[in-house]
Amino acid sequence: MAKVIVTTSGKGGVGKTTTSAAVATGLALRGYKTVVIDFDVGLRNLDLIMGCERRVVYDFVNVIRKESNLKQSLIKDKRVSDLYILPASQTRDKDTLDIDGVGRVIEELSEDFDYIVCDSPAGIERGAFMAMYFADEAIVVTNPEVSSVRDSDRILGLLASKTKRAENGQDPVKEHLLLTRYDPLRVEKGEMLSVEDVTEILAIPLLGVIPESKDVLQASNAGCPIILENETDAGQAYDDAVGRLLGEDINHRFIEVEKKGFFNKLRLFRS
Ligand SMILES: Nc1ncnc2c1ncn2[C@@H]1O[C@H](COP(=O)(O)OP(=O)(O)OP(=O)(O)O)[C@@H](O)[C@H]1O
Ligand SMILES: [Mg+2]
Repeated sequence: MAKVIVTTSGKGGVGKTTTSAAVATGLALRGYKTVVIDFDVGLRNLDLIMGCERRVVYDFVNVIRKESNLKQSLIKDKRVSDLYILPASQTRDKDTLDIDGVGRVIEELSEDFDYIVCDSPAGIERGAFMAMYFADEAIVVTNPEVSSVRDSDRILGLLASKTKRAENGQDPVKEHLLLTRYDPLRVEKGEMLSVEDVTEILAIPLLGVIPESKDVLQASNAGCPIILENETDAGQAYDDAVGRLLGEDINHRFIEVEKKGFFNKLRLFRS
């Protein structure tokens, strides 16, 4: 039986798809057979970030409508074995997804995979609800700003009430906070909320802090999940987060202002 993880946020553009691609890749790198599903019907971004857009033939909606089977529709990653992508349709609207169809696809994938990562669209409407409904765990992606934190708080309310687990009275969806686009310098200047501010408001366990970094856009333009760029801070931060997701005890990094420049200057001054 696979574990189903939803990457969700409420607010748009906070880094959900970046996170879905990185986390799915990280799980597969650690030997877990993983599929990542793009629930953003109509937009279709995940295949770009995963670098497989030219290989899309059939999509999630085709599978739901039984126009293709999973074997025809899953795209196997060329870099990481055990990693598969189920792309979204670019042409249809969000209302094409329905609970029964999504449930059937997730059940079929469950037989074969260890992890199913569901990349949610923005908002709190149908698409986001479909992506979270079957989740066992949720990665709540939040930027250190008030509007993002407020939307994440609304998502936490939905995870506790509108999911299959909630409706069936099972154990609640396990929630993880992932703070992305974090810039310690701007936090120090008081321009952004700090890790402590956000964890205090949302009151869920911190899975990781991903620094703001130009490397992320560069990697996604190149169709490469940032976690594969293992010399970058953001890639390493995602790798730590995947370790924590699997229960490893790893110290948080990238949350303090880098002092290296200052010490280097001091050394120059002394010599
Ligand atoms: N840590 C980061 N540092 C810098 N830029 C980032 C970081 N994470 C994400 N971004 C950038 O933010 C933008 C939005 O990222 P992404 O598409 O992952 O967000 P999303 O939440 O999936 O958006 P949507 O709600 O539209 O689906 C992209 O341009 C991406 O490169
Ligand atoms: Mg997205």
